[in-house]
Amino acid sequence: MCGIVGYVGVNQAAPILLEGLSKLEYRGYDSAGIAVREGKEDPVVVKAKGRLRVLADKTDNGKAVHGTCGIGHTRWATHGAPSESNAHPHVSNDRSVTAVHNGIFENYQEIRDKLLRNGYTFYSQTDTEAAVNLIDYYYKKYKMGPIDAIAKTMVRVRGSYALAVMFRDYPGEIYIARKDAPLIVGAGTDGNYIASDVPAILQHTRTVYYPDNLMMGRITADTIEFYDLNGDLVKLDPVEIQWDASAAEKGGYEHFMMKEIHEQPRAVADTIRSYLKGDPDKEDALLSVDLGKIGITDEMLKGLKEICIVGCGSAYHVGVTNQYVFEDLVKIPVRVELASEYRYRKPVLDPETLVIIISQSGETADSLAALRISKEHGLKTLAIVNVVGSSIAREADYVLQTYAGPEIAVATTKAYSTQLIGCYLLAIGFAVSRGTMQAHEESELLHELLTIPAKIQKILEDKERIQWFAAKFANAHDVFFIGRGIDYGICLEGSLKMKEISYIHSEAYAAGELKHGTISLIEDGTLVIGVLTQSELYEKTLSNLVEVKSRGAYLMGLTMSGNFDIEDTVNFAVFVPKTDEHFANSLAVIPLQLLGYYIAVSKGLDVDKPRNLAKSVTVE
Ligand code: AGP
Repeated sequence: MCGIVGYVGVNQAAPILLEGLSKLEYRGYDSAGIAVREGKEDPVVVKAKGRLRVLADKTDNGKAVHGTCGIGHTRWATHGAPSESNAHPHVSNDRSVTAVHNGIFENYQEIRDKLLRNGYTFYSQTDTEAAVNLIDYYYKKYKMGPIDAIAKTMVRVRGSYALAVMFRDYPGEIYIARKDAPLIVGAGTDGNYIASDVPAILQHTRTVYYPDNLMMGRITADTIEFYDLNGDLVKLDPVEIQWDASAAEKGGYEHFMMKEIHEQPRAVADTIRSYLKGDPDKEDALLSVDLGKIGITDEMLKGLKEICIVGCGSAYHVGVTNQYVFEDLVKIPVRVELASEYRYRKPVLDPETLVIIISQSGETADSLAALRISKEHGLKTLAIVNVVGSSIAREADYVLQTYAGPEIAVATTKAYSTQLIGCYLLAIGFAVSRGTMQAHEESELLHELLTIPAKIQKILEDKERIQWFAAKFANAHDVFFIGRGIDYGICLEGSLKMKEISYIHSEAYAAGELKHGTISLIEDGTLVIGVLTQSELYEKTLSNLVEVKSRGAYLMGLTMSGNFDIEDTVNFAVFVPKTDEHFANSLAVIPLQLLGYYIAVSKGLDVDKPRNLAKSVTVE
């Protein structure tokens, strides 16, 4: 989705803006632009359709645009096609106000009509141009300062936005405002920065402010101020970002996705170890889950009647797998909801329900809405999030942070893996607290969990086998993933990885459902991937594989070491190391991530930035 970068300081702004925007390329975009000014001069606005490279060529990597104060934007079209005139920054009629915007102004048509009646004209189809002129309208009509004009605009518009604005009359100043869209401010030594995501400014500073919802800011080379809607100053404390700049670089890998796949042992280990009591390096240590670290008490858990897990995409898949884990370990009813559905249904939930919201970015619009609705209903909320300071992390009652580090590739891998761990830890901790698990069982399970990183590493060492298999199926039209229970959750994620980056149609089916319709799609040579990590369900799914094989399917079987008889049925078998079956997803997903990756690479596709997709979906 769109990206914003801004800088005001002692250095030339344009190269900084372009470099920052390049760090946000992973979010997906179709055009880009910058507005840079020197002192009192009007901003110079340069835009280009297509890749950032085009904008960089047009401006000699920014060197041709002089000025030390500027804002930049990568646009992902919502209102109006991708084009130079629709690209940001947008300027008001007489160029008094220049702005970039992420999000959507829902009532922009109404605002346009009002402005048309007041003599304004429009050169683009965007909602942003309407808002820029509205700021200008209030600024002039009521002779207000920038903060008051922006505040009045915020009260008039509906929707979500992160805005960065420059006023002709206020050289060396950038104003910001946000509602339901991320925007951060970085304090540097040679100037100050704004960005819609941390990687854009990580090279310059790790001292970051997270303005709250409906907050505004005024940024100059040496001051950072925040204001509430009344125009009153608000004090915010900065946060030190732990991620270092190299975490957002490819580090020798061809793609971010491959780098992130390989970071999984580290990310998983860091997440497990952050929530343990006892020495994880001592074989005989009594280990337990440190629920206190996230503020959860035994008392709160005792009264719990239900758990509702909510997320989108892969985060939802983490929920599907963990429904089985929670129900089995905690013996509590669990439901899993797609955030986009949950927010518009009227779910009937017991007041003693804990809503667990899972989100890597912490900014996904539907997940954020689901969190807010849950809170409005008086339900307790717990967020499993990767991005500290994100909206979901700030608004949830309890937060379990995952330690994946910055995830750049659109297709999630390491964040997904750490979300699984977050859920396992909660399930184990809840089970002990509610008396469905003994302390020694907890410790045994946690010792087993600590072996997962090394087992993931072992699978990665054998990745060439998957690469070979991927080459065979690069031209496949349809792929089916089948499994039962936790294996069904694994299938959902394997199938999403396949379609989102390799553009091959694929579906995940609970294996028992095949006979109810889908089996009619099986033809000679159709690839069916069976996931069979759950011993109780092994024979059932194996029978389903035999059924599709007899209708011509080509079979890949994914199971745990030891189930060698699978080779009698499938054409290609993949074995992952043995582990406790509750944790099987953490291992079985790795070959499926690799399969999607290698197929996409062999088709020559843009693995890290698949078509039509954005890393963080901050609009509905
Ligand atoms: C998965 O590869 C996708 N990128 C997508 O499904 C993602 O998991 C979903 O959009 C949720 O994002 P979030 O975790 O940032 O909320």
